[in-house]
Amino acid sequence: MENILVIGAAGQIGSELTVALRKKYGNDHVFATDIKEVPADIKNAGPSAILDVMDDKRLIHFVIRHKITQIYHLAAVLSGNAEKLPLQAWHINMQSLLNILDLAKVVEDVHRIFWPSSIAVFGPTTPKQNTAQLTVTEPSTVYGISKLAGERWCEYFNTRYDLDIRSIRYPGLISYKTEAGGGTTDYAVEIFYDAVKKGKYESFLKENTALPMMFMKDAVNATVKLMTAPKENITVKSSYNVGGISFTPKQIAEEIKHHIPDFEISYKPDFRQPIADSWPQSINDSVAQTDWGLETKYDIKALTEVMLNGVKEKFNPNK
Ligand code: SER
Repeated sequence: MENILVIGAAGQIGSELTVALRKKYGNDHVFATDIKEVPADIKNAGPSAILDVMDDKRLIHFVIRHKITQIYHLAAVLSGNAEKLPLQAWHINMQSLLNILDLAKVVEDVHRIFWPSSIAVFGPTTPKQNTAQLTVTEPSTVYGISKLAGERWCEYFNTRYDLDIRSIRYPGLISYKTEAGGGTTDYAVEIFYDAVKKGKYESFLKENTALPMMFMKDAVNATVKLMTAPKENITVKSSYNVGGISFTPKQIAEEIKHHIPDFEISYKPDFRQPIADSWPQSINDSVAQTDWGLETKYDIKALTEVMLNGVKEKFNPNK
């Protein structure tokens, strides 16, 4: 019997992963927590609580009281926001992970942990195309530095204390249920909202900035697959490359125009442009495919369709 703790259940990943985990393990066995109220559908369907992962004492009490066996720690300050308050972002991203790792060392029931890393661990000196699992990692953002350090801590705890911490280097994640906040890849979410609401979008990245992206459903499926794979298959003790698909603002705009012919895009790059320029354009995720069967189902066409329909539904639920 598993009891799962999701930290960051009100966030972009958490609000969808919690639903998938509840389907798999039963509603009563997945505790949805965040520093703010979780969405109503999640709150009404199973256990939830306000929980601050930075409060290590309350965290450990919660884990013991609810006999938690697996933790998904999804709370983080994303790349754009982290650049505004670098030391605070470093503190939140690192200390929260260390609180979880340290807890897993002492609470025996906790036998598996998921923690997301990011394509942000790569930097300007990393080969940009088909970026390998093992390559140069010299991130130039504080978010990337915190994710890279986090990966090293995960590997250290996995090896030194024989824990089972698993991780994915997510590409930009695209979804309509809960909007992302403060990331560099967020343009690829915002563009759908503005396309539906205003018929136009001003992109904060240049037209030909290619980045690896993934539709949330693929990301959730990948996460569940990784977390249910036999331990002996997990050869990467830090974090797995997951690439999804790659596209530019111009390409996604072209795709939207197939559905909204009058859609207009303009470009006004801001401080996030150099962040995007420092990241790979496409990712080699063959190790994840071999080790635990990673699959990507949504291409740019399919995700555009689902996103436009999802956003329309959100704003005009009766139409
Ligand atoms: N999507 C994240 C960001 O842009 C990258 O992990 O910050």
